[in-house]
Amino acid sequence: MLFFKGTPTKKEMKDTRRTVIAGNWKMNKTPSEAKALVAAIAEKAAGKDACDVVLCVPYVDIPAAVEAAKGTNVKIGAENVHFKESGAYTGEISAQMLVECGVSHVIVGHSERRQYFGETNETVNLRAKAGLAAGLKVIICVGEVLEERQSGITAEIVSMQTKLALAGIEDLSNVIIAYEPVWAIGTGLTATPEQADEVCGIIRGVVAGLYDEKTAEALTIQYGGSMNDKNAAELLAKVNVDGGLIGGASLKADAFGAIIDAAQ
Ligand code: 13P
Repeated sequence: MLFFKGTPTKKEMKDTRRTVIAGNWKMNKTPSEAKALVAAIAEKAAGKDACDVVLCVPYVDIPAAVEAAKGTNVKIGAENVHFKESGAYTGEISAQMLVECGVSHVIVGHSERRQYFGETNETVNLRAKAGLAAGLKVIICVGEVLEERQSGITAEIVSMQTKLALAGIEDLSNVIIAYEPVWAIGTGLTATPEQADEVCGIIRGVVAGLYDEKTAEALTIQYGGSMNDKNAAELLAKVNVDGGLIGGASLKADAFGAIIDAAQ
């Protein structure tokens, strides 16, 4: 924190970066349902400009979601992106396709992709680079599984994932990192605010080492894993937690609206 005069206050530290409240809908909602839910969330988000609000939706929902988000302060993201520009990659979607559909953000390296679809640190890095090259803001997910936390190697795992995901990326201005402990995803087991703050701080330290203090202080680092309308305020109050990546609670306009409110 070299660029602050004296010891910075919590508010001063938080003011160096943008809070981002992002929903990850995963494999939920048809296009017509997406249209209605985006509209309902946009209503909740109106005038709440202390954070960015992003909804990452299934590919086929993107056109309906983009249309419903027009003229609102909700931005639409995708849940993954392939690293090649085009070619024989059945079932994959390129960054340029997303850009042309009006997408501004993309998630890469979600633990469900790593767990069920063979995503590796290397492909996460390639996907992140492809998204950035196309001008997208990229939300890179990292996080330990339960056995790793219980073995006391959370810091090592998350540091390694962060370093490998960022390899060869020079400019972090369009990068967001989401710390998502795998044991907290969809389980109702939220990390405590202290645990979330600690690991987000470790990630910030890794970034400071790879880049510099100023880059680390400017980086948005979200927490994800059973964040909801009840626990959001406490998590978001932590100095290293700059937003949330929210699964289940992003599928309900009231709950997601309350999380947006907690970020104001
Ligand atoms: P839940 O909020 O449902 O635990 O999901 C978190 C997540 O995986 C967001 O990417």
